[in-house]
Amino acid sequence: MIAIYPGSFDPITLGHLDLIQRSSRLFEQIIVAVLRNPNKQPLFKVSKRVEQIRECTQHLPNVEVDSFSGLTVEYAKLRKAGVLLRGLRVLSDFEQELQMTHTNRMLWDGVETLFLATTTAYSFLSSSMVKEIARFGGSVDHFVPEKVAKDIYIYYNQNSQS
Ligand code: PNS
Repeated sequence: MIAIYPGSFDPITLGHLDLIQRSSRLFEQIIVAVLRNPNKQPLFKVSKRVEQIRECTQHLPNVEVDSFSGLTVEYAKLRKAGVLLRGLRVLSDFEQELQMTHTNRMLWDGVETLFLATTTAYSFLSSSMVKEIARFGGSVDHFVPEKVAKDIYIYYNQNSQS
């Protein structure tokens, strides 16, 4: 079965990567799908995020990285996926995730949403927190893959006045 792991991944964190690794053992194919969201001002362009995720998942042969626009269920239909994967860190994630799951099911009931609990060590981690730490000059080495940390440092050095 094909599973889609949709998200913003701006940037991908070690929590995301852990979920990709664990789910790649459960499904024939995982498609990590980066949403093209015109409403958000991202840190990294979609093409950069796709490149970063490809680089840190290159050791996983059944993981593909792609981007999509519009509704996640339409993308799932297009890719013939049976499952949408989402990570759950803490209880407060649950409400929004459940709302998203019910909305998706109303839109199309041909795909199931499956939640995987985030590994304990990353249960506090989020892309927004990583950006905030980096913006104020802190180290993100323990939160994101090495190459992504380098990209983040380059970004904030180049934009130090912002
Ligand atoms: O990493 P994120 O930002 O928590 O991911 C959220 C995402 C991309 C999974 C969600 O916003 C999404 O599916 N957006 C696509 C638009 C859509 O399908 N909306 C209906 C379900 S809420």
